[in-house]
Amino acid sequence: MDLDRLIQDRIRDVPDYPKPGVLFKDITPLLADHVAFAGVVDAIVAHHGRGTVDKIVGIEARGFILAAPVAYHFGAGFVPVRKKGKLPAATIEENYDLEYGTETIQMHTDAFAPGERVLIVDDVLATGGTARAAAELVRRGGGEVAGLSVLMELTFLDGRAKLGDLDVHSLVKV
Ligand code: PRP
Repeated sequence: MDLDRLIQDRIRDVPDYPKPGVLFKDITPLLADHVAFAGVVDAIVAHHGRGTVDKIVGIEARGFILAAPVAYHFGAGFVPVRKKGKLPAATIEENYDLEYGTETIQMHTDAFAPGERVLIVDDVLATGGTARAAAELVRRGGGEVAGLSVLMELTFLDGRAKLGDLDVHSLVKV
């Protein structure tokens, strides 16, 4: 099976989660398949090329699962963007609208040296609110946003429209 088909095959549709009428795309079967999981990580690294960025930003919580192995294989450092109240040192924060409510994310103020090139990695691009807020945190923190890589893009929500000229790379479009 090629990677594209394998990824599609390992994403499970869960009806009425987290609320009635929503069809949730569950990536846990993909993560449990080492060929699919490794294929996704390798594809993200290959798309950008090793050594092209200094830091990988992962977005809590499912974004961490992909971003950490991507950072390792890239030869880049890992920086967590977390939900409010989870980071111990001084932070900057951004508020944004989610598909299912509102949220605040934070990042340490000293996450980057000035001008470091940063790739943001997450599992899903939906409305784009999370990615836009993360990109803003990176810029405010002194980083240079090299792009956004996601496993899955929900194209019907048109998250890209919120992201201006950000380079958006998605492995599967739904
Ligand atoms: C999900 C997903 C993305 C975000 C995408 O995270 O992991 O980070 O929503 O949505 P958007 O494009 O509409 O902003 P969620 O906040 O559900 O957190 P979780 O990973 O901790 O479940």
